[in-house]
Amino acid sequence: MTEAVLITGGGGVGKTTIAAAVGLAAAEAGHRTLVLTVDPARRLATALGLEDLANHPEPNPKQDGLYAAMLDSAASWDAIARRHAPPDVAERLITNPLFEAVARRFPSGQAYAAAEEMATHLESGEWDRVIVDTPPAAGGIEFFSAAARMRELVGGRLLRWLTGARLPGRRGLFNIAGRPALRLADALLGGPLLEQVAEFLFDLRTTYDGISAKAIDIDAHLRKASTVVVATTDAGPIREALRFYQEGLDPELVIFNRTLPLEWADPFQPIENGRTAVALNNNLDRWGLEVRRQADVRADFAGRFPTPLASIMWMAESPVDLDGLSRLIAEARDLDLKLLRI
Ligand SMILES: Nc1ncnc2c1ncn2[C@@H]1O[C@H](COP(=O)(O)OP(=O)(O)OP(=O)(O)O)[C@@H](O)[C@H]1O
Ligand SMILES: [Mg+2]
Repeated sequence: MTEAVLITGGGGVGKTTIAAAVGLAAAEAGHRTLVLTVDPARRLATALGLEDLANHPEPNPKQDGLYAAMLDSAASWDAIARRHAPPDVAERLITNPLFEAVARRFPSGQAYAAAEEMATHLESGEWDRVIVDTPPAAGGIEFFSAAARMRELVGGRLLRWLTGARLPGRRGLFNIAGRPALRLADALLGGPLLEQVAEFLFDLRTTYDGISAKAIDIDAHLRKASTVVVATTDAGPIREALRFYQEGLDPELVIFNRTLPLEWADPFQPIENGRTAVALNNNLDRWGLEVRRQADVRADFAGRFPTPLASIMWMAESPVDLDGLSRLIAEARDLDLKLLRI
């Protein structure tokens, strides 16, 4: 059976890095593992074996059982149209200028398209573990509501009102065009645009059945998956992590990344009275304050929620190869990979 692990959290907290490291740990534990990643740094992509940033799974040349693929979080509205509308309708949708406008104003569409890709891999039966680096729609949590929002967009009340409760036939388009809301638009903007709007809404509506069914599957996958929220002790990432609880999404694990080791709270005594030693000591004093601040934020978080917490140390070098990723996991404190079924 395929188990999914979703690595989510605010921007820049280390999601992509941790997804790669957890994927490596899963492959080392003997699971056939796919890391679905978004926009990895060039060197990390190379370490994962993603030379050509492929959309299809590529085996890692250095680790058996580890595969990686890119989740395409950009060119995806076209993919949605192609997947859920007949070819001629999809073509018409994609070339309709309104389509681009909707795609631009509705960022959940990108997250939704990525979720569809994730579902395809989860349903392929090829993998023991799929580790998903969630795309940055607008903070990690949007990934979880994208399916519902997409359904709402294509099947929602406004669209139903404009296009009629049931799909109108081709001739029904003229009735749509006769609706007051669109007649007003016609008066303001001119006839050809009105026709485009009517056709667009009609075409978009044909995708409803497909998207609606897929959205239900995606929600089921998300509910079954293990969710890891990555944060740091900074205000932005903490706010993002708290939103998961506010929305009633219960993560399996919270990881505090870029943690400073508690030992640093008590800096070494000066070894000599030279200026270098004093400077070093001052510096360690400063880090000592930061260590205590971080520890307070973590303790406060632990006091509020029962979720197991883990910390990943702040490494001196960016972990961008398999050794670096292994070290990252080895340096983690309280990280119980069994929670993620790894
Ligand atoms: N524990 C760590 N120690 C040192 N550097 C780290 C650590 N974790 C991540 N980094 C570095 O921090 C940077 C950001 O990490 P990463 O790209 O994984 O974050 P992200 O959450 O995926 O960002 P985005 O939201 O932009 O996708 C990278 O350069 C990465 O190598
Ligand atoms: Mg990333």
